[in-house]
Amino acid sequence: MRSLFLAALVFAACTPGQIIMPPPTPVEPPTLSLVTVTPVDTTRPTSSTVMSSLSATGLSLVSGQVAVVSVDAVAVRAGMATTPVPVGPMGDDALGTVRQLGRRGAASLWLTSTGVYLERSGRLLRSPLSDSLPLPQVRAIDVVGEGAAETWWVRTDDAVLRATSGGVDAIALNDPNGGGLIKAAVGRDGASVIVVQGARLYLVEVDAPKVTVLATGLGAVTQSARLGDGTAALATAQGLVRVSPTNELTLTAFGPVAAVHDVAADGDAALVQSNGLLLSLLVDEARVLGDVAAPVVSGVVRDTAGAVFTLDGDALKRLATTAEEQPVRYADVKPFFTARCTSCHSSGANYAPIIDFTTYNKAKMWAAQSLARVQNGDNPMPPVASGLLRPSQYAVLERWVQGGLLP
Ligand code: HEC
Repeated sequence: MRSLFLAALVFAACTPGQIIMPPPTPVEPPTLSLVTVTPVDTTRPTSSTVMSSLSATGLSLVSGQVAVVSVDAVAVRAGMATTPVPVGPMGDDALGTVRQLGRRGAASLWLTSTGVYLERSGRLLRSPLSDSLPLPQVRAIDVVGEGAAETWWVRTDDAVLRATSGGVDAIALNDPNGGGLIKAAVGRDGASVIVVQGARLYLVEVDAPKVTVLATGLGAVTQSARLGDGTAALATAQGLVRVSPTNELTLTAFGPVAAVHDVAADGDAALVQSNGLLLSLLVDEARVLGDVAAPVVSGVVRDTAGAVFTLDGDALKRLATTAEEQPVRYADVKPFFTARCTSCHSSGANYAPIIDFTTYNKAKMWAAQSLARVQNGDNPMPPVASGLLRPSQYAVLERWVQGGLLP
């Protein structure tokens, strides 16, 4: 009753158009089966504590640099100290209480008690869209598109709002078998959004208008992110749920405990926190980036220099992960050969010449030629029928060759 009353107030205050979606098409959603991925744990990047005894609540990026967020300020790291980021055109506005952090492309977004702030040239400026949103009710914001096509998917407890320069619409789901709080809204584009309400996962196509139940029986969602390739990733008590742009669903665990506490986008990869580890996940390959001491890491970002920062309890930790800092060794590239190449080349299957990638000395002999073929779109390896590899998928081979083929 109370939430209905609140919702009515919200609509009255902001007069958004209300869109009531049709009930979902009655299809039995597939049951999600859990796949456990064992993370590759070879050479861990060196981890160093950059600052300790911080009273930080999260991490953001400001001009590509890591910024520590506290209750009412954002400060960029400068060596072992931080400098506050000025707020407002004159630099003397108050940020208010920071309630949520978000991403807008490669940039950050701050939702505070006084508005939604975006960064421009090293300053935090209040977005004019702030005035169209029911700020006290907003739980999270996900931004898709750029320029005139920019769309904000805004989540409150009982509605998903779509905000554009043209206005705000409140989108209400209408599932007779659903209900409960809205726990995630990850935009796909300006017209469709992945929504978790209660224990149900939906694809909501607003303009169609069409709602599809993608999964039921979801565990508690603690974080969500949109990866570079458009995949929606949800950290849940039952594992990492991923919804690809073609609606393929996966549920992944990374060790004995299925729960995934945090997920953040890192290009096409996901930075995942599970089982006391910070992992980098690309498609179905997970690598250990480091250990985390705190039960839940409250932030993880990668700066423009390529270093990953995490907030582990009250400490800011830095993981050296750029190519220069962390050379790729044979042990790092071997899993790539095993996963992508040996199915044909160890036995000569599919008329492939026998190439031994399982020892350093043999793999080294074929490395340059292998990289050339992997990069050759006209005559690729693996052959086109097995699906072209994206650059991010063969980066490890590229870095091994560039780094001088270390044993
Ligand atoms: C589906 C089977 C298959 C897979 C998987 C595969 N290859 Fe091949 N590969 C072949 C065949 C068949 C040839 C020979 C025809 C050709 O050169 O295109 C070949 C040729 C090559 C050659 C040239 C060998 C020579 O003697 O000139 C290299 C190098 C190579 N592959 C590397 C790789 C690497 C690296 C991977 C993994 C990223 C890989 N291949 C995955 C089937 C495969």
